[in-house]
Amino acid sequence: MTQSSGSATVSFDEQEFDLPMASPTAGPRVIDIRTLYRRAKVFTFDPGFTSTASCESAITFIDGERGMLQYRGYPIEQLASQSRFLEVCYLLLYSRLPTKEEFNTFRDRVTMHTMVHEQLINFYRGFRRDAHPMAIITGVVGALSAFYHDSTDITDPEQRELACIRMIAKLPTIAAMAYKYSIGHPYVYPRNNFGYAENFLYMCFSVPAEKYESFDEINRAMDLIFLLHADHEQNASTSTVRLAGSSGANPFACVAAGIACLWGPAHGGANEGCLRMLREIGTVDRIPEYIARAKDRSDPFRLMGFGHRVYKSFDPRAHVMKNTADEVLDLVDSKNRPTLMVAKELERIALQDDYFQQRNLYPNVDFYSGIILDAIGFPTEMFTPIFALSRTVGWISQWKEMIADPIQKIGRPRQLYTGPVDRNYVPIDER
Ligand code: SDX
Repeated sequence: MTQSSGSATVSFDEQEFDLPMASPTAGPRVIDIRTLYRRAKVFTFDPGFTSTASCESAITFIDGERGMLQYRGYPIEQLASQSRFLEVCYLLLYSRLPTKEEFNTFRDRVTMHTMVHEQLINFYRGFRRDAHPMAIITGVVGALSAFYHDSTDITDPEQRELACIRMIAKLPTIAAMAYKYSIGHPYVYPRNNFGYAENFLYMCFSVPAEKYESFDEINRAMDLIFLLHADHEQNASTSTVRLAGSSGANPFACVAAGIACLWGPAHGGANEGCLRMLREIGTVDRIPEYIARAKDRSDPFRLMGFGHRVYKSFDPRAHVMKNTADEVLDLVDSKNRPTLMVAKELERIALQDDYFQQRNLYPNVDFYSGIILDAIGFPTEMFTPIFALSRTVGWISQWKEMIADPIQKIGRPRQLYTGPVDRNYVPIDER
C-alpha cells in the first residue's frame, strides 16, 4: 500500500481544500483527489491523462527521465540478457521469479493450453483472406468467452487464474492461425515439445510438405521481442483492459478491447508504420526531406517509432532492439541491411536536431522491432499481432491486479461540458 506523505491544498473562491498525498516506492508522489468533487464540486481536467495516476500498481515501473523500465523491480536490461519470456510471464503474474520447479510446473500448465477449441477455426473462415490480422485476432479473442465458460467467472480466483493461463497459451496459436489464413496455408497445430517462441515460429513458418528447421538464434530473438513488449505500466491498451475489466466484463472480452486499442498507429500499430516509413525513405540521402516533414506542423506526417509519452531520454527497449537487429541481420541474408542503415542514420540525424531535442523525442520500442520481424520473415501486417501476443501477459497481469484491488470500482471519468443547455424542441415543420 502507498504511504501517506503530507497534503496539498487546492484554493479558489476564498475556499481551501486539503488533499492527502501518497508516496510510491519509486516515481512521483500523488495528490489523492478522490474526495475533491464531493467537497469542492469541481473536477480536475486532464485529457490524455498526462498528469493522472489512474490506479495503484506494483507490476511495472518506468522512469522516463532516466530511460528506466523494470518488471516487478527487475531492470529490463537484466531480464533481456538473462531471462526468457515465459519466466517473465511468471514474474509479472505472481510478482517474483519462480524456482526451477515452479517454472517447470507453470511452463507445463501453459503448454497444455496451447491448442484452441476446434470450432474456433470457423471464425477465421468468416474473414476475407486480405483482412488485417489485427481485425481477426480482435474478433477471435473476443470469441474465446463463448468457448471457455469454466474461466469466465471473475469472482472465482481459480477461474481468473485459468483465464490468464489460457490467454498466454492461446494467443500465439490464434495469431499464427491468422497469419496462415492470410496466406492460404493450412493451420499448424502447436507442438508441446517446443519452447514458447519456437512454437510460435513453427506454427507460422512450417508447412506440411517440408521438414521444419528451427534456429536457436532466431528463436532467441523472437523470445526477446516477446519479453521486451510484455508490459509497460498504464499505456493506452492496458488502461483499456483495466477500464473494460472494471465493469466486471469477461477477461477474454477485456483483452480483445486491449487488442483493438493497441492496433492504433499512435500505439502498437507504429511498428508496422515505422517499417513502411523506413522503406518509403529508402536511402539515407532522403532522410532530410522526411525530417523536415516531421517538423512541419502543417504536415500530419510523424516519424513512426519516435517519441513517447513517458520516455524523455531514451526507451531502453529500443537500445536492446537495436543490438538485436544487428545480430539477426548478420544471421539471415536479409534485404533489410539498407533499411537498418536508414534507421540508424535517421536516429543519428534526428537526435542532433533541435526540434527533436527540445521535445525529447527518441526512438521507441517500435523503431527497430519491425526490421527484426521482417528479417525473421513476417509481413508488416503481423507486427502488431506479435506485439499483442507479447503484451497479453501484461494486460492480464494488470487485470488480475485490478480485480484483486480492494479499492477497485468501475472506472467512470467525468467531463468539462461546453455544449448547449436548456434548448426547447422545435417541430420539424417550424425549423
Ligand atoms: C507505444 O504508452 C506506452 O507505454 C506505449 C508503448 C507501450 O509499450 O505500451 O511504449 C508502445 O505505443 C510506443 C509509441 C509508438 N507510437 C509512435 O511511434 C507514433 C509516433 N509517435 C507519436 O505519435 C507520439 O510521440 C506519441 C503518441 C508516442 C506520444 O505522443 P504525446 O506524448 O501525446 O506527445 P505529443 O503528441 O503531445 O507530442 C509532443 C510534441 C508535439 O509537437 P508540438 O505540438 O509540441 O510542436 O512532439 C511532437 C508533436 O508534434 N512529436 C513528434 C513525434 N512525436 C511527437 N513530431 C514528429 N514525429 C514524432 N514521432
